[in-house]
Amino acid sequence: MLKLDISKAAPAVSADIIDSYAARVAAAQQALEAGTCPGNDFLGWLHLPSGITPAFLADIKQTAAVMRKECDAVVVAGIGGSYLGARAVIEALANSFEWLSRDGSNPAILFAGNNIGEDYLSELTAYLRGRRFGVINISKSGTTTETALAFRLLKKQCEEQRGKDVARRVIVAITDAHRGAARTCADKEGYKSYVIPDNVGGRFSVLTPVGLLPIAVAGYDIEQLVRGAQDMEAQTAVGVPFAENPAAVYAAARHALYTGGKKIEILANYQPKLHFMAEWWKQLFGESEGKDGKGIYPASVDLTTDLHSMGQWIQQGERTIFETVISVETPEHELLFPSDEENLDGLNFLAGKRVDEVNKMAELGTQLAHVDGGVPNLRIAVSRLDAYHLGQLIYFFERACAIHCQLLGVNAFNQPGVEAYKKNMFALLGKPGYEAETEAIRRKTNPQPLQ
Ligand code: PA5
Repeated sequence: MLKLDISKAAPAVSADIIDSYAARVAAAQQALEAGTCPGNDFLGWLHLPSGITPAFLADIKQTAAVMRKECDAVVVAGIGGSYLGARAVIEALANSFEWLSRDGSNPAILFAGNNIGEDYLSELTAYLRGRRFGVINISKSGTTTETALAFRLLKKQCEEQRGKDVARRVIVAITDAHRGAARTCADKEGYKSYVIPDNVGGRFSVLTPVGLLPIAVAGYDIEQLVRGAQDMEAQTAVGVPFAENPAAVYAAARHALYTGGKKIEILANYQPKLHFMAEWWKQLFGESEGKDGKGIYPASVDLTTDLHSMGQWIQQGERTIFETVISVETPEHELLFPSDEENLDGLNFLAGKRVDEVNKMAELGTQLAHVDGGVPNLRIAVSRLDAYHLGQLIYFFERACAIHCQLLGVNAFNQPGVEAYKKNMFALLGKPGYEAETEAIRRKTNPQPLQ
């Protein structure tokens, strides 16, 4: 169960103001349903959960079983939408110390292709030396530089260490059906491969094999994840009355806050395991909204950790922020504070209480302080941090993002701004086909001839 509470976001978000959005949100929902909104060739995510069949999940699980049997470590190579969703779910579900206490039942899931750090890649290849590892190569375009670079290194190492035949079984590609180098390579090498549907953009693709395969390889319940998303698809569908649709109300509240001058949204969690959920959320909203000179800047904090760093800014800095808290109602474990005879630390007033009770009081105390300090608060409560509720959260945010982008008047599904750095990087590296750009950038950055 996911519950949205917008009652602490006044005055920008009052019942009347939210009600005034009903017609606009209904129009946005209709446009999504009818496929008439901007970017309508990328609406495949809208009914993706309800279209997932048991046979499809069984196939993913079968591939995952092969990788789990044949690998002690699996590297997921991908960036942006081809990376963050899987990492968000895996880190939210994993034991925080699993990487220290491997019992051999789950392969280590490692991530690459999301940076070009030479030290990172050197240390990764050193870690993999001598290990039984496999690779999931994820790229919709099949040409993303960060991912392609990492994959070239990993493919070579895997083939050298494990031989071509085993490598063929433990390398899986998730990419376009026809285009791109990742597809060419997968077809030529005979890798098992999955297709990212044309009409599903990267940041909306976590419920395709992009997210489902790594999550299944990590050992988590993809059926429950999908079930959660399916239920949220129904709860946020076009026919659901505005006030009963949490994604619609969240979108309206964000828009009211934005137009009232709150330009930054801080997503706060009180569970360190949600750190990468916030990274995924930042990408979803940042890349979807931030264009045409518009968009809420999505930031995030892990609390209470960051109350000892960013907490000062949130409490008393520029008043252009609002906060959205993801609160997990019941933790997976129970831990009570012990009583201590000497009480040297003075904490006996907490003896017998659950750690989570203290965490919840920290959350409530922070909410009161931030609201008093002029930071409107939206609160999303989920009953538990399990696959089902993560599936709900994912779809909830996707739907809310698509509605809010229409309220803003931007195309949620493109990312033209991402090309600017790529063009410069290719020009600087002398990529064939970029000769004119190389010359132009050389004149701009360095009048000396390039070596
Ligand atoms: O949301 C998006 O479309 C992007 O973040 C992409 O996922 C990211 O750029 C990676 O692209 P690709 O999957 O083509 O390698």
